[in-house]
Amino acid sequence: MPLLGVNIDHVATLRQLRKVNYPDPIIAAKLAQDSGADQITCHLREDRRHIQDADIPKIQSAIAIPLNLEMAATAEMKAFAIHHHPQKVTLVPEKRQELTTEGGLDVASDLERLRSFVGELKKKKIHVALFIDPTVEQIEASQQVGADSVEIHTGNYCDAVLERKPFELDRVLQAACLAKKLGFYVAAGHGLNYENILPFKKITEIQEYNIGHSIVAHAVIVGWERAVREMKGLVR
Ligand code: PXP
Repeated sequence: MPLLGVNIDHVATLRQLRKVNYPDPIIAAKLAQDSGADQITCHLREDRRHIQDADIPKIQSAIAIPLNLEMAATAEMKAFAIHHHPQKVTLVPEKRQELTTEGGLDVASDLERLRSFVGELKKKKIHVALFIDPTVEQIEASQQVGADSVEIHTGNYCDAVLERKPFELDRVLQAACLAKKLGFYVAAGHGLNYENILPFKKITEIQEYNIGHSIVAHAVIVGWERAVREMKGLVR
């Protein structure tokens, strides 16, 4: 049975829009845990557009399930991770201008640096995952740098037009099979929602999904009636 990592970044996005103290991602993390999440995932971005430094230790104190910290492979973030010691770090590429993570980490072009980066985190007993595109080159490179896991980028599948979806799904399948064969713990994520997750059931090699935006978006709609009723009660 695959595990679900719930990404709470966009709860913090809503909070940061107004720089207020709600909605609180710590409460969201706790509620996600109570609702069956197997892991809480959050991305501490260089521009701190959603999750803030101070959220991380509070989330860690609030939950009993593992924290998966997504971060860029920078010296600042390495020091942060070593200080806060999440159970898992997922290294992702990061560009300031992007709306969300675009594409996987180019591990193959950065072997030496990433080998040392991954090694330092592993020495501190932090499980290290690399967020990569579903290619043989990136999976083999992830093995060369000593990662524990790969998280396969599902964005191309999610964004593909209908006719191309089977091809993109097959790329994820092939990548998951190879990664499993090489001994990786295999995760997947990005762009997954309540519809496009269904065809992934056949890829039994995937052990974990990290999903954020669609859960936050769905929560707005399923919680909408109650939220309006409660405000109506107060206005009256
Ligand atoms: N996995 C990784 C590595 C990501 O960077 C993200 C987005 O932060 C996700 C999963 C979740 O993507 P989404 O919000 O589209 O579900």
